[in-house]
Amino acid sequence: MPTAAWPPAPVPAGDLDRAIRPFGESTMLPAAAYTAPDVLAWELRHLFAGTWSCLGRLDELLGDTTQRGVLAGDVPVLLTRDGGTVTALANTCRHRGHELLPEGGTSARAVVVCPYHAWTYRLDGSLRTTPRYHEVPAGHGLVPLPVEVWHGWVFVNGTGDAAPFAEHLGGMAGLVAPYAPERLETAARHEYVVRANWKVVVENYHECYHCPHIHPELCAVSPPNSGDNYDLPGAWVGGSMDLRDGAETMSLDGRSPGGFLPGVDRRRVLYLALFPDLLLSLHPDYVMTHRLRPVAPDATRIECSWLALGEAGHAEEFWDRTNRQDWAACESVQRGLASPHFRPGPFAPNEDAVHQWVTLIGRAYQGRPPWA
Ligand code: FES
Ligand SMILES: [Fe+2]
Repeated sequence: MPTAAWPPAPVPAGDLDRAIRPFGESTMLPAAAYTAPDVLAWELRHLFAGTWSCLGRLDELLGDTTQRGVLAGDVPVLLTRDGGTVTALANTCRHRGHELLPEGGTSARAVVVCPYHAWTYRLDGSLRTTPRYHEVPAGHGLVPLPVEVWHGWVFVNGTGDAAPFAEHLGGMAGLVAPYAPERLETAARHEYVVRANWKVVVENYHECYHCPHIHPELCAVSPPNSGDNYDLPGAWVGGSMDLRDGAETMSLDGRSPGGFLPGVDRRRVLYLALFPDLLLSLHPDYVMTHRLRPVAPDATRIECSWLALGEAGHAEEFWDRTNRQDWAACESVQRGLASPHFRPGPFAPNEDAVHQWVTLIGRAYQGRPPWA
């Protein structure tokens, strides 16, 4: 059961009150939300570890190993696979706390061996052997954590006290289901490090107010003022945009080499942000994801993947160019946010999805998790 009320974030309360006012009256979050190390530390614990972090694709994480060290926010996690069973465990030895594997480390063994004093655990986390003890001490298995595999992505709740994943997803589940991303292959991937706070990247994703000014290629295939935003349950924000007449997909010439996904809307692209770290862009012939990982208040590592039934060179070419246009804007915003002259500004009428997102963050900063 969801339990946690969170401690408030270290952001001035008056600034938050302004940010969570109704649309038309509210402003952006204060600068500290994007620049302060103690705010990022709070976010990693509560927004990332405290909800459901996306760790990537199951076949890449555990395709040819039985164990992998990962991070859910600031919490070290050990993912294991035993046949078809995927388990998440606190990556903290029950003897004196050593990590079982470093972050990114893997092992293909059938047991988990602590590198420090060689306590061993089964893949389900139960304690198996403890060298030099007369008998294995009871009740010292690795701490199990909630884990879900959804359409091929692995999600972990690092603190163990979030709402159930189905509640986290809410109405987003039905929007993504027709695309059946579990049947798609990763056709291409780019890694970017953007010198901007992770929320600046998400906020930029949620509006096309900027599109006529920095995205000529995008505007050629999709009218920037088209589409609607969704208002459904769940910890996510998103909407759709239309393809122009004659455009088959988002690509430089609007054409697709084929490989349309059966059963999906051929005239629209869905842009969905699952809180906190996965952006899902659903096209007629491919699925693009941005997985965000904050590395500093002003730096975000972004893994951009294109999933398709076949090749996706047209998608990679189009979106790499568009991504870089976005990253340049985000980095400029970050520099502006760091100025002593920055003041949170009001939203434009077509920035309602940004407002929804800021409201989610602002309420969370006040100690109210997305499910509260
Ligand atoms: S800390 Fe793991 S065996 Fe000692
Ligand atoms: Fe953009």
